Formats: sequence, C-alpha cells, structure tokens
Amino acid sequence: MPTILISGTNRGIGLEFTRQYAKDGWRVFACCRHPDKARELKDLAARYENISVHALDVADHKQIDALAQELHDTPIDILLNNAGVYGGGEDENFGTLNYHAWEREFRINTLAAARMAEVFLDNVARSEKKLIAALSSLMGSMADNGSGGSYLYRSSKAALNAVMVSLAVDLKSRRIGVLVLHPGWVKTDMGGPNAEISTETSVRGMRAVMDKFKLKDSGRFIAYDGEELPW
Ligand SMILES: NC(=O)c1ccc[n+]([C@@H]2O[C@H](COP(=O)([O-])OP(=O)(O)OC[C@H]3O[C@@H](n4cnc5c(N)ncnc54)[C@H](OP(=O)(O)O)[C@@H]3O)[C@@H](O)[C@H]2O)c1
Repeated sequence: MPTILISGTNRGIGLEFTRQYAKDGWRVFACCRHPDKARELKDLAARYENISVHALDVADHKQIDALAQELHDTPIDILLNNAGVYGGGEDENFGTLNYHAWEREFRINTLAAARMAEVFLDNVARSEKKLIAALSSLMGSMADNGSGGSYLYRSSKAALNAVMVSLAVDLKSRRIGVLVLHPGWVKTDMGGPNAEISTETSVRGMRAVMDKFKLKDSGRFIAYDGEELPW
C-alpha cells in the first residue's frame, strides 16, 4: 500500500488530498495542528481505516522530530508539505510590513519543508516512489511578479522554491525526487470564495502531476494543470 504524509490536513487543499488518496487506498498520515478540533478530518478518518491523524505544528521542530520518532522506519512514498499561511492585509504591504509575522510566515512556508525533508529523508528513501513535494505558489515566482505587494508570502514561497531546488540537486544521487507544485487559485479559506477552481479539481490535477513524476522531472515547478511555471 503506497503511503503519503501530508501536513495541514484539517481544511482546504490538505483535507482534499487526504480524501482523494484515502479513497484510492493509500495509507495517509494526515497531520494537523489540533486533531481534537479537526472535525471533518476526524469524520473522514472514521470512514477510512487507512487514514491516521497526527498532531503536527510544522513551525515547531520538536513536534516534527516527535512525529519522525513515532513513524520510526515506516516508508513514506510521498512527503507532501502542504501547510501554509498567507498573512494578507496591511502586514504584507510596503510601509506597514510586519516583521514578526514575516518571520512566522518563513518558519511555516519555508523552513518547515527543509526540516521535514531532513527528518523524514530515510523514510522517503525506504519507499518505492521516493518523492518530496511542496505546495508553493505562482506568487513565489519572481518572473511572474508584475503586481508587487504580498512581501511576506511572495518571499517565503520564493525561498521555499530555492530550498526545493537545492534538495532536488542534493538528493538526486539517492534517487529521491523533488517537486514544486502550484495548486492554482483555489476556493479555500486562503484562496477565498472568488477563486477559480475547487479543491477537488486542484488536487486531482496535482495528483496526476505526482503520478506521472519521473526522477528526470526533479526540481521542476509545475501547476495543477501540468503547466511548467517560470521561477
Ligand atoms: N488556495 C489557493 O488559492 C492557493 C494558491 C497557491 C498556493 N496555495 C498553497 O496551498 C497550500 C494549502 O493552502 P489552502 O488554500 O488549503 O490554505 P488554507 O485553507 O488556509 O489551509 C491552510 C492549512 O495549513 C495549515 N497550517 C497553517 N499553519 C500551520 C502550522 N504552523 N502547522 C501545521 N499546519 C498549519 C492550516 O491549519 P490550521 O487550521 O491549524 O491553521 C490549514 O490546514 C498552502 O501552502 C498555500 O500557500 C494555495
């Protein structure tokens, strides 16, 4: 049974990833900050015995380490860094930048993916698929930035992209692949109600991208519809 570990699964895109992979028979380690409050996730886990729910605040390296100890030498086919934050509002605007929020956004959107890769590397190496993926954003693309603003979010996702490309280079000799994904503009708490696509469409698309993944694709930045994106 293929196995996936997903962060931020209590709502939005992470919850939909959990739903689709569980339905397809994958073993899902579904992580979220507060399992007790994750009603929809718990309902899902009650329906699928291949889902296990784990407490994980990705900003807290001690919690990442504790989860790695708990999973010990379990193979993980896909390590999926989905959890993310977009502060929004005045905090993200030049002139009123919130530097404390900026550090927090980096910790969650950037540093966590590096720490997760360090800690779960052997689990991924033990699996068949050997893939580490992260939900980035087209907003992290410098080539695409024609509208400015969103300093915290854009910089944290651009830095995530840099982390993932280095990982792709460093891990190729171990035959571990790395993918940077853009989910599209998705109707979630983050994307808002006016977003273009549903979580169902976004996740189906990203799963197809990961499904087709070959080691030669490692280090690429790909949207949910398969389009290669500029850095
Ligand atoms: N929606 C879009 O249009 C869009 C576009 C481009 C990229 N993305 C990216 O896609 C990913 C998922 O976004 P989404 O739209 O599903 O966002 P969302 O609806 O706001 O959900 C964010 C998820 O991340 C979790 N999270 C936040 N901080 C965390 C932490 N410190 N530790 C663990 N989990 C944490 C949240 O958990 P809590 O409930 O505990 O806060 C929640 O489960 C993010 O990385 C986002 O940047 C989204």
